[in-house]
Amino acid sequence: MRTHFTIVLTLLSLSYIQAQGLRETVGQYCFFGSALNTKQCIGRSTSVNQIVDTHFNAAVAENCMKPESLQPTEGHFDFTEGDRFISYCQEHNLTPFGHVLIWHEQTPKWMFLDEDGNTASSDLLKERMRKYIMTVVGHFHGKVKGWDVVNEAVNDDGTLRQSPYYNILGEEFIELAFRYAHEADPDVELYYNDYSMSCPAKRATVCRLVRQLKAKGLRIDAVGMQSHNGMDYPVLADYEESIEAFAACGVKVMMTELDINVLPKPENFGGADITMDFRYDEKMNPYRNGLPADMVKTFTDRYMEFFRLYYKHRDKISRINFWGLTDADTWLNDWPIKGRTNYPLLFDRSHKAKPVVAEIIKLYKQ
Ligand code: XIL
Repeated sequence: MRTHFTIVLTLLSLSYIQAQGLRETVGQYCFFGSALNTKQCIGRSTSVNQIVDTHFNAAVAENCMKPESLQPTEGHFDFTEGDRFISYCQEHNLTPFGHVLIWHEQTPKWMFLDEDGNTASSDLLKERMRKYIMTVVGHFHGKVKGWDVVNEAVNDDGTLRQSPYYNILGEEFIELAFRYAHEADPDVELYYNDYSMSCPAKRATVCRLVRQLKAKGLRIDAVGMQSHNGMDYPVLADYEESIEAFAACGVKVMMTELDINVLPKPENFGGADITMDFRYDEKMNPYRNGLPADMVKTFTDRYMEFFRLYYKHRDKISRINFWGLTDADTWLNDWPIKGRTNYPLLFDRSHKAKPVVAEIIKLYKQ
């Protein structure tokens, strides 16, 4: 009888330790999320649901809330998949975040053209931006906590990206986007989001933009550092300086698209421009049959360098969000080279937690 009792107790405490996840530890300090794809949102995979329920309290739609999905042709909005994402979040107690309103990528070409196929006038583009933001932010009113209002408007050297938005409207497009979004939903949080945010010149421009928006009385709640990181980039000190600099502008900081690319870098590779596309070469795909033990250790250590920073600056960081749930579904299997086997996330191809998960939990329970 006594032995039975002890066995039951041991089993109970073991399952308690297992059930203890990132949600209850890191999630106490900030939103802790993942990008989810459309298939995951259907909710049929028990192992996906289990990871989500144990470890996360927030989520972003990986693709289905981008302009090309929500308004593929002018005037025709399709919220089917976006609504499914929201329902999944509601069923799994995740706070949904919106990604993304104004971005030069994954936005249909017609947005920037008039009816004759010429470049749209500034008035036409403003009207389309306004309509898009009003309709989309209005549709998700009360359902998402915040929106990435503008994504990737700044180059690494601090100049503004010559995107169609910039070329047609100049820098004003940023201010307009924030203005329309706030008008559409005065309660929703608004963010500026970008990659390579440790670059000093980029950091300075983003700070200038944030200060400018605030000086004009416009709402901006946080800066999103995408954080598509690698084993040897960014330089940690630069990354930390950016966290501090953005916080000093009076906004929260969010790690919006965290992953760590373990594969070799093509020459001239940097940032997270989704149009980058290098040719496949076996040499660039060295871990097809699994990540060697020493690499697993380096990977864990590298993640911990970032998480020690996140812990240290937990008063400034309001969200940490991974760009994908498991190595089986990461975009880094196909970007910037198609067909590779990458290992950038906390859960492996068989949906098992990697050793780094326990390390992060330990750090936040200290
Ligand atoms: C990526 C998705 O993960 C891919 O599935 C898609 O094909 C391209 O876009 N920065 C962003 C994200 O802001 O929206 C991008 O997501 C990755 C880079």
